[in-house]
Amino acid sequence: MKLADCHNIDDFRALARARLPWPVFDYIDGAADDELTKARNTAAFAEADLVPDVLAGVAEIDPSVTILGRKSALPLILSPTALQRVFHWQGERAVARAAEKFGLWCGISSLATVSIEEVGALIATPKMFQLYVHKDRGLNASMIERCKAAKFDAIALTVDTIVGGKRERCLRSGFSSPPRFTPANLLGYALKPRWGLDYLLREKFSLPNLDTHVSQGTREAVSVQRYFTEMLDQNLDWTMAAKIREEWGGTFVLKGVMSAADARRAVEIGADAIMVSNHGGRQLDGSRAPFDALPEIVDAVGGRIEVICDGGVRRGTHVLKALAAGADCASGGRLYLYALAAAGQAGVEAALTIMREEIVRAMKLMGVTRLDQLNRDRLRYR
Ligand code: FNR
Ligand code: LAC
Repeated sequence: MKLADCHNIDDFRALARARLPWPVFDYIDGAADDELTKARNTAAFAEADLVPDVLAGVAEIDPSVTILGRKSALPLILSPTALQRVFHWQGERAVARAAEKFGLWCGISSLATVSIEEVGALIATPKMFQLYVHKDRGLNASMIERCKAAKFDAIALTVDTIVGGKRERCLRSGFSSPPRFTPANLLGYALKPRWGLDYLLREKFSLPNLDTHVSQGTREAVSVQRYFTEMLDQNLDWTMAAKIREEWGGTFVLKGVMSAADARRAVEIGADAIMVSNHGGRQLDGSRAPFDALPEIVDAVGGRIEVICDGGVRRGTHVLKALAAGADCASGGRLYLYALAAAGQAGVEAALTIMREEIVRAMKLMGVTRLDQLNRDRLRYR
């Protein structure tokens, strides 16, 4: 299978599986416990049907939105995801450059393998830094200051990882940050020599936004599940979130809100947006799917805060369903990560081309020329 054979996100998943050592693929593809929530995140979109209007004259359409105060060429944000140079040696550099080329927001994780400064200098399009609040208060302050200096456009505070989700595939494979080779997984790595040569001979693994303050995750290999449980501040609460917003002073997003009550509290502390998200099913398995939660959350806060539907998006129609349900934008991680792993920047650009084509085609078949014409009247739940 090769890049030209990839016609949808699932094809990229197959190519990523072929290219990656299975422990690395399982880290991306895997989720928590029985992975019920990860499955529901995507399946939820099949529970609602789009109602097209015809004869709408759609020769000229505008698939752009303004989200987080910036213009985005599509209603799609590339969600922040960790460890990208483990998936492909080009890592966050490839994703950032592809995001810029497509005019999309790019999310950079606290556990990124490329620094805040480098991404800040690399692209001129909107960039969001995803903050994990660590027990080390100095580290938290350092990341916020570095984002200010690098002129990041938003900070997304992730609020659904107060402890690590039970990542059973990673428990079996021994996947860690950085990856460690064990008797159980060595063959898996050895069978993918191209990945191995890139990983061993190219730029050394690092977590440049964290290793100024902590050695876990770089000098000390640790599973992501353990990293969350041991390194993140379990006292994180609404008071601390409000203080972080104050300290940052810029566009502020809460990532991982799943209840109407929390959505209302996000408005109260002055957040600009919420990412309705269960972390791609990687945290609380059994949690509701973002698409399922949208109506209740939008009704609770619609209009007072921007609502981003994050999780399970694999099709352009998923994006349109999320907007019809009331979201202002959609976002996703695996939708570009499989492609990154499969073929670096060329892969991400191919995946974004497919997503853009699917969004435009669906808009035209829906008879909409602008995305604000989508509303609940264009959706029927089964
Ligand atoms: C993530 N996600 C994530 N979220 C976050 O706030 N910080 C992070 O560092 C990461 N890292 C990460 C790595 C990998 C491999 C995945 C798959 C996901 C969650 C991510 O931002 C997003 O919420 C989910 O990926 C959305 O689900 P989909 O689009 O992958 O189905
Ligand atoms: C994950 C973390 C890094 O989901 O957010 O793996």
